Amino acid sequence: MNDMNDSGALFSGQMVAALRHARHVVVLTGAGVSAESGVPTFRDAQTGLWARYDATALATPDAFRADPALVWGWYEWRRAAVMRAAPNPAHAAVAALARQVPELTVITQNVDDLHERAGSAGVIHLHGRLMQPRCFQCGTPWRYPAGVPDEPEGGRRVTPPDCPRCAGPIRPGVVWFGEGLPADEWQSALAAAAGCDLMLAIGTSALVYPAAELPQIAVNTGATLVQINPQATSLDGIAHWNLPGAAGITLPALLRAAFVGGMNETA
Ligand code: APR
Repeated sequence: MNDMNDSGALFSGQMVAALRHARHVVVLTGAGVSAESGVPTFRDAQTGLWARYDATALATPDAFRADPALVWGWYEWRRAAVMRAAPNPAHAAVAALARQVPELTVITQNVDDLHERAGSAGVIHLHGRLMQPRCFQCGTPWRYPAGVPDEPEGGRRVTPPDCPRCAGPIRPGVVWFGEGLPADEWQSALAAAAGCDLMLAIGTSALVYPAAELPQIAVNTGATLVQINPQATSLDGIAHWNLPGAAGITLPALLRAAFVGGMNETA
């Protein structure tokens, strides 16, 4: 195992070489990648109206059935936060990595569009997309009105719109706890994890399955696993390298070490 400090001064030469020579890199991202853009992770302390609720308990079909205005209001508040946010240097580095390696697959558990806004294409969204709501009853896609929703800082309840087709409530386009992942996206993610030679797991607690299986699949099929996360996670034991820093600092530093002359390598 080799560490680096937060200034990005030191990386293992072996790890840098593995990245530089990788043919297919998978980047698996979680909420930590968007944290530096100001989008709260699910496990951050909630504020305002939401302080009374466990965020993971709001993200279920049962919660929506029981109190649609509470759950829709929470997602409107999250949507406002995402629309006001800008991609950070970690998102930009992921987009830049696509130009450095022969093949890059970006798999995200995030429902925001910050990877796309940073320039990544073909991102696999395992947990759906906040910006693509649909009817809870009939599944018909629905479009948000233009503009950022004007949500108060502390959040509020908002009655969901009615589906123009069946009058059912509109729900956010995300995968809730207890729901299956989108089949095509999951199959693509499985194939990429099994086919890559290096996986970067960035800003994920790796607690939520089946997404958390992907790093293990990559390791089982011989890939190098590099993790970037300031906290300990369940991947610490299987990662070949753990880089305990913030994604927006550590990933750009790693790419500089790998692709700009290798001046930060250590033996
Ligand atoms: N850089 C890198 N990692 C960070 C940063 C940062 N600046 N800030 C926080 N993290 C790490 C935390 O240490 C934590 O391990 O990001 C991780 C966020 O963990 P979670 O909130 O559990 O996010 P994630 O792993 O994406 O959750 C998976 O669970 O809540 C559901 O559906 C939701 O997609 C989400 C899924």
